[in-house]
Amino acid sequence: MSYKSIKTEIHDRVGLIRIDRPKALNALNSTVMSELGQALKVFDADAQIGAIVITGDSRAFAAGADIKEMVDATAAEILQSEPIERWDLIREVKKPIIAAVSGWCLGGGNELAMACDMIIASETAKFGQPEINIGVIPGAGGTQRLTRAIGKALAMEMVLNNRHLNAEEACRYGLVNRVVPEEIYLEEALKLADEIAKRAPLAVRMGKEMVNQAFESFLAGGMADERRSFYFLFSTEDQKEGMRAFMEKREAEWKGE
Ligand code: CAA
Repeated sequence: MSYKSIKTEIHDRVGLIRIDRPKALNALNSTVMSELGQALKVFDADAQIGAIVITGDSRAFAAGADIKEMVDATAAEILQSEPIERWDLIREVKKPIIAAVSGWCLGGGNELAMACDMIIASETAKFGQPEINIGVIPGAGGTQRLTRAIGKALAMEMVLNNRHLNAEEACRYGLVNRVVPEEIYLEEALKLADEIAKRAPLAVRMGKEMVNQAFESFLAGGMADERRSFYFLFSTEDQKEGMRAFMEKREAEWKGE
């Protein structure tokens, strides 16, 4: 299958998906998310594939959802088009997914990495939820999965004040599995995926399901509330101002309305 904004490869028993919008720091627009969903489905259904790796490039895993695509959306439009709903496809994948992260891993990018089962980070990886800078909040798990992964105090600082974590901090606080030099982060992720792909497939599948059950009990309600709050913020002046200010490369002026 050929795609416009992602690339896929097969490495022995591992399916690799590369997000391919380098000029936009791999911002996750609707094409990327829909193609990512298709590619995951194809790999999940392929009996030759035992594990999947998602990556970006060395500068960015992904710098978030595509702000240019959202800037003018009203709350009604965003509620009707439900852009985050298509992210649920990631959670339906039965095979293990490893995120290989280098460079910026922000907003929706961090949410995508956290929706994967494991994260291998390059030393240059930077994790953050900067939505507060553009007048909104995370909408695809940033307030929910992040809090479970690293705890309330640090999650609050990241969501409310755009605190970034470098790779070493992300590892120390339990967000990522391990940190390796930039030259080998993808190789390391592929190696881990390959090892898992060679294990007993049904046990791997059940193991993933059960660890996720432990992690995700009560997650669904929180994700739905987060999504609604994210959509609601599109009815505010501050969301328009924040996203326009990003595009116009200037400081936002907040009104609180
Ligand atoms: N959406 C759309 N375009 C983006 C983008 C995004 N999230 N992030 C970067 N880009 C684009 C920039 O607009 C720029 O394009 P132009 O060359 O056409 O101007 C290009 O990528 C390169 O970016 P910068 O020039 O800004 O690169 P930099 O090195 O100076 O800064 C950065 C890097 C700090 C990551 C900065 O790009 C940035 O702050 N990006 C936005 C991060 C963000 O706010 N993410 C959250 C998005 S909302 C979200 O994800 C909601 C959700 O929960 C689902």
